[in-house]
Amino acid sequence: MLQKIQETADFLRTKMQSNPLTGIILGTGLGNLVTQITDKIEIPYETIPNFPVSTVEGHSGKLIFGKLGDVDVLAMQGRFHYYEGYDMKAVTFPVRVMKALGIETLLVSNASGGMNPDFEIGDLMIITDHINLFPEHPLRGKNLPELGTRFPDMSEAYSKELIAKAKTIAAKNNIKVVEGVYVGTTGPTFETPAEYRYFHAIGGDAVGMSTVPEVIVANHAGIRCFGISIVTDLGVPGKIVEVSHEEVQEIGNSVQPLMTLIMKELIN
Ligand code: HPA
Repeated sequence: MLQKIQETADFLRTKMQSNPLTGIILGTGLGNLVTQITDKIEIPYETIPNFPVSTVEGHSGKLIFGKLGDVDVLAMQGRFHYYEGYDMKAVTFPVRVMKALGIETLLVSNASGGMNPDFEIGDLMIITDHINLFPEHPLRGKNLPELGTRFPDMSEAYSKELIAKAKTIAAKNNIKVVEGVYVGTTGPTFETPAEYRYFHAIGGDAVGMSTVPEVIVANHAGIRCFGISIVTDLGVPGKIVEVSHEEVQEIGNSVQPLMTLIMKELIN
């Protein structure tokens, strides 16, 4: 694992013209932020040694070095999902590589189904915490002290400081944001009404199929995290309708620019 991380980091270093401290992982169809990146160097995942290749529709799958405003960033357009068949080591491998490249702060985005009855479709939910319901833990197995401690603290998995700043930015720009707990589950099925009820009962505000593994590994590595979830459908009793991947992408598309604005200002 350590050798693979080094190999991949060495390869990427030959492509880098800067030393970004900020990493970004963009979720399903949420590539809008990339349009704001200048001085871009784009590297398709399939050309990166040891990188898994993304297969899900709506993911173009590339790593991008460039500038967001005045700040150097390393962005992943498209991520690796557990439901695609990758194991958790593969899903989180890019975060390990980010750490090796010097990333100190990670911003993540995703689409989710809202269970909080106060939420509306198209809301931007600032992730305040998560519940990990994936059946495989990304840190399971022998701990490599070079990567982090055996029993990582998760009391502030999402940086309170970044959450507060993001809320200030949203208020200043008249962007409605909500806050909540993200439940990470495998998918690829969307939830049954009973499952949405269950995820709400255990303390979740929104549910999705990603993010939690990456944030766990980032915390293990000492990277501070910030996440925004776009609520693309509602798992609220009485408001549940059929969900499709296409609708999720459509709603995601329509509110992406607002999320981009918050992330860009936050990074700057
Ligand atoms: N459930 C799980 N993942 C999702 C959903 C959902 O309702 N919407 C978008 N991603």
